[in-house]
Amino acid sequence: MRRVHIQTFGCQMNAYDTERMREQLAADGWVEGAEADADLVILNSCSIREKAEHKLASAAGRLRDWKRARPGAILAVGGCVATQEGERLLERAPLVDFTFGPDQIAILPSLVARAAATRARFAATAFTDVEDYTFLDANPAPGGVAVTALVTIQKGCDHHCAYCVVPATRGPEVSRPIDEVLREVERLCALGAREVTLVGQNVNAYHGVHTDGERGAAFVELLRRVDAVPALRRLRYTTSHPKDFTRPVARAFAELRTLQPWLHLPVQSGSSRTLRRMVREYTREAYVEQIGWVREACPDISLSTDVIVGYPGETEADFTETLSLLEQIRYDSIYSFEYSPRPDTPALKLRLKDDVPAVEKAARLQAVQALQARVTAERLDRLVGRTVEVLVEGEAARGDGRLCGRAPGNEMVNFAPGPSSAAAPVAAGALVTVEVTARRVHTLSGHLTALIEAPRRAASSRRLPVVAA
Ligand code: 5AD
Ligand code: SF4
Repeated sequence: MRRVHIQTFGCQMNAYDTERMREQLAADGWVEGAEADADLVILNSCSIREKAEHKLASAAGRLRDWKRARPGAILAVGGCVATQEGERLLERAPLVDFTFGPDQIAILPSLVARAAATRARFAATAFTDVEDYTFLDANPAPGGVAVTALVTIQKGCDHHCAYCVVPATRGPEVSRPIDEVLREVERLCALGAREVTLVGQNVNAYHGVHTDGERGAAFVELLRRVDAVPALRRLRYTTSHPKDFTRPVARAFAELRTLQPWLHLPVQSGSSRTLRRMVREYTREAYVEQIGWVREACPDISLSTDVIVGYPGETEADFTETLSLLEQIRYDSIYSFEYSPRPDTPALKLRLKDDVPAVEKAARLQAVQALQARVTAERLDRLVGRTVEVLVEGEAARGDGRLCGRAPGNEMVNFAPGPSSAAAPVAAGALVTVEVTARRVHTLSGHLTALIEAPRRAASSRRLPVVAA
């Protein structure tokens, strides 16, 4: 029996890719096992910031003893560092047998066979031409589908945000044909998924074709079609670019049965000057107007965003505008980062100097996070005392007999099953109502009040282990 162990870093695209790697290898007879017993270890890497790359380096270093103890074992690096570095990674990391990019997942078993047969080290990281690109269909084993499933609708990105490595690591944008997306949603729902998150680097730019005709479909049409899948209960999408976020997409929050009141709309900075220098192609005012459309369609929507501090040339005044934007919008949560120069990005080509001192970046990050911790707490507190719908994902992390799941706004809710569970056992995939009684830092806590709908069929409560970038 040949055993594989996969470790995933980075974003939702890598999480999705890891699932496809698992399926390709399973079809070739591989079973999953612990790292120590593995004949093949795959590190699915991320290069969005320097820190993410460091995580790959330390994970590879930790495998030294494993490789020594298992002659013939293979170490492969996939994902974004692999594409970015290709051959260079082989020089820098002598333990690595081969590198492969997101476009090589369909041929992964043959790459493993080649490495095993020849023992020659190689990089297989070229992009497939846009015209020839085909998306791998999800092919989960029965019982292997989580209650909340990811469905890729797009790969790559055509924007040129000056700080971002993604266009270099994932290539140009390709939209997946609409019928393929619908078939996958239907298949996953039939296997027990109840919530689907459509994923891509910039889903709002989706322009998939109907494979039965020539007409292109915009993102809002895709949302309508997915929403019409009868077995689907919840729909989300990530990640969006404000440049392509239109009014009809905002209105969908009021119109669609399954679309949840949650939107991740990365803003990056509250300063129009910085946004221009990041080549984001919108202003603070335009962004605020878009949030207005969204709140008009869905007043209680939960919003999240990404923020970068310490971008080249960011002045104290620019930074203050980021703080004021966070106060103005009042996001439910944010992801915030210090700017990190990346290879092959427009910022490097434009020779933008990484001129905000490290201590200043750290201070700005801390100020952003302190402000947001308060706003997040205030936003969560509004839910205490309310009854919310929760899609049960499984047992709570603490293992204290409580269950967990997310509210429509994506808030994590831990709850005691309560007396009604005796009549109808509540399992992963059930839709329930929970009365929220308290907030615990960034999660909610409460007790079950009613079962809305039992699971259609048993789904896995396994959650993907992703190491944050
Ligand atoms: N430095 C810091 N943060 C970055 N991000 C992308 N590139 C960089 C970089 N070079 C952040 C952005 C993006 C999120 C996924 O990561 O905020 O939205
Ligand atoms: Fe995802 Fe970007 Fe990291 Fe690649 S570099 S894994 S696309 S976050």
